[in-house]
Amino acid sequence: MYLPEINFLTANDIPDILRINAAIEYSWPESVIREDLEDSSQNETTYIGAFATTTEAPLLGYAVLGREKRTGVLMALLVDKNFQRQGVGTQLLLAVSDCAMYLHMRRLVLRVRKSNTGAIALYSRMSFRSDEVRRGYYSNGEDAIVMSSMLPLRLRP
Ligand SMILES: CC(C)(COP(=O)(O)OP(=O)(O)OC[C@H]1O[C@@H](n2cnc3c(N)ncnc32)[C@H](O)[C@@H]1OP(=O)(O)O)[C@@H](O)C(=O)NCCC(=O)NCCS
Repeated sequence: MYLPEINFLTANDIPDILRINAAIEYSWPESVIREDLEDSSQNETTYIGAFATTTEAPLLGYAVLGREKRTGVLMALLVDKNFQRQGVGTQLLLAVSDCAMYLHMRRLVLRVRKSNTGAIALYSRMSFRSDEVRRGYYSNGEDAIVMSSMLPLRLRP
């Protein structure tokens, strides 16, 4: 298991974000990330990164937290393929939970592809429950599962 350092991401981290995205299907285009991080006054998204304490792969993964009133929206969660299944996604979700509570949010919601059984397993373990299915939500026609949890997130035993 990895115990990464958690920190907010800035425009300086864009190359590392793009490196992670390059290996992962359905990641956001560079233009969206640049817009978010190069002009953060224009939006309410928070980028949270998990960093290795060694230098070989500084950024291991990241999460993006948005908001709709008092509800946090987990907009993205990606972990470098070489560092998956080592607890990094879990650490990022716990950091998102802390950050959302600090921002006075009470719940966290997310949408996940129905086929993304790995992510659904992670979210279920972190106290998310499935609320509804949005038929054909994604551009390729795939259904989205909407999941939510009250804050703070907790690891189920
Ligand atoms: C989903 C993702 C973020 C998980 O990150 P991670 O760092 O590998 O997650 P963790 O190591 O913290 O996993 C914790 C637990 O979640 C479950 N889990 C995570 N990934 C899983 C997978 N691929 N298959 C089955 N269970 C999985 C397991 O219970 C795991 O515990 P275990 O490894 O002891 O069995 C990562 O696989 C990823 O970046 N995927 C591509 C992007 C993506 O799909 N993001 C989610 C979009 S909604």
